[in-house]
Amino acid sequence: MRRYIRALVLCMVFAVFSGLFVYSKLFYSDVSVASGAKRLVSPPQDPGAGGEEEDGAATGAEQRNPHRANRNVTRDGRDAVGSTESRLPPPMHLAVVTCGERLEETLTMIKSGVLFSIKPLHLHIFAEDQLHASFVEALESWPGFVRSTFTYTLHPISFPSENAKEWKKLFKPCASQRLFLPLILKDVDSVVYVDSDILFLRPVDELWGFLTRFDRSQLAAMAPEHEEPRIAWYNRFAMHPFYGRTGVNSGVMLMNMTRMRSAYFKNDMTPVGLLWEELLMPLLQKYKLNITWGDQDLLNIIFHHNPERLLEFPCKWNYRPDHCIYGSNCASAEEDGVCVMHGNRGVYHDQKQPAFRAVYQAIKKYVFGTDPVTALLDALVEELSKTTHTYCGKSHTLFTKKLAHSLANVKKDDGEKPRL
Ligand SMILES: *[C@@H]1O[C@H](CO)[C@@H](O)[C@H](O)[C@H]1NC(C)=O
Ligand SMILES: *[C@@H]1O[C@H](CO)[C@@H](O)[C@H](O)[C@H]1NC(C)=O
Ligand SMILES: *[C@@H]1O[C@H](CO)[C@@H](O)[C@H](O)[C@H]1NC(C)=O
Repeated sequence: MRRYIRALVLCMVFAVFSGLFVYSKLFYSDVSVASGAKRLVSPPQDPGAGGEEEDGAATGAEQRNPHRANRNVTRDGRDAVGSTESRLPPPMHLAVVTCGERLEETLTMIKSGVLFSIKPLHLHIFAEDQLHASFVEALESWPGFVRSTFTYTLHPISFPSENAKEWKKLFKPCASQRLFLPLILKDVDSVVYVDSDILFLRPVDELWGFLTRFDRSQLAAMAPEHEEPRIAWYNRFAMHPFYGRTGVNSGVMLMNMTRMRSAYFKNDMTPVGLLWEELLMPLLQKYKLNITWGDQDLLNIIFHHNPERLLEFPCKWNYRPDHCIYGSNCASAEEDGVCVMHGNRGVYHDQKQPAFRAVYQAIKKYVFGTDPVTALLDALVEELSKTTHTYCGKSHTLFTKKLAHSLANVKKDDGEKPRL
């Protein structure tokens, strides 16, 4: 009898331990592959769209085998031997939407993100189909010591497959793609969304870090649209509700999409909360005649009704010409320098704000592997010194203060082990 009891106890102990083992396996694979595994599956397609064959051959092996995402994917897409998947930190997800003539601008944004960041990056590039091949060609031409620090997925501009037809009728796809990220990137937990005219002057890691500072209700983070209400837009002209004193700018937006997909949002259409996917269409229908800046206006309406869901980060994380054009008004940048620059209204490409253009040109021209102090910082300082006839040029030390610190992270071709 006693022997049976002993055997039974032994069996139970064994069962408990195997249970624990399985659980820990599940847990760790969840962490290390996290939003990694399934996210490389191509996004849901509009079944009626035809011709939107996405991703495809171009982006290489990573896409055909999603499990390669976090591995040592070499330049030609082969899986390196002995990859150490479990020890790699999960990548940060960076999303951008790019249409029209913005290929070069988007590549320069990506370059700034890749140059300074510390943890591996996974890029989600939403682009019109005719741009996909050019992205692949450009990114694959970057040297191995840079290429090995990020992976990427090219997505077509598309709507979630449910109701795609209806959405198509109402939204201009390029302008509203970012609103649909939580519904398209269903298996990704969080993203940093940026417009293509963003330049990172600090590691993406620091921006990503805001995600862990969210309180229990926050699910997105943005910077105010303006610091100075007297010259701001929303409080003077908007014909719809907006967030806070001056509204928010959506050019740099952190999203905890896990939360966005499950939260109920208060609104002025129904007395009950609506899910993100239920909210967008009625909102647009109600406000379509009153909105000026497209999806940014919709975000302002949503967070007007749900302010507790938004973390507001300081303007140094989304620094625009508005912050210096009539004199400096972004206190956080005055104090610490610019962390993320946003050259909106085309200032990288015309002569209206030469200081912004100089930063763009410096990053664009920087050759991977060359000395970042002389080839990037010194060259930029010299260009900026020619812009002091403008208000933004007068503040140019703010443009290089953070950048100077970021140079320590710039990827070098020193034969070090790549991190991916
Ligand atoms: C990744 O691949 C590179 C190039 O093939 C190799 O030198 C490096 O040791 C690999 N790293 C890991 C972690 O497997
Ligand atoms: C996003 O929110 C979910 C649910 O609260 C949480 O489990 C997850 O860790 C958050 N993601 C990040 C990056 O903080
Ligand atoms: C749109 O703007 C007009 C004019 O300011 C205003 O009367 C109307 O209430 C607005 N519509 C909505 C849905 O807020």
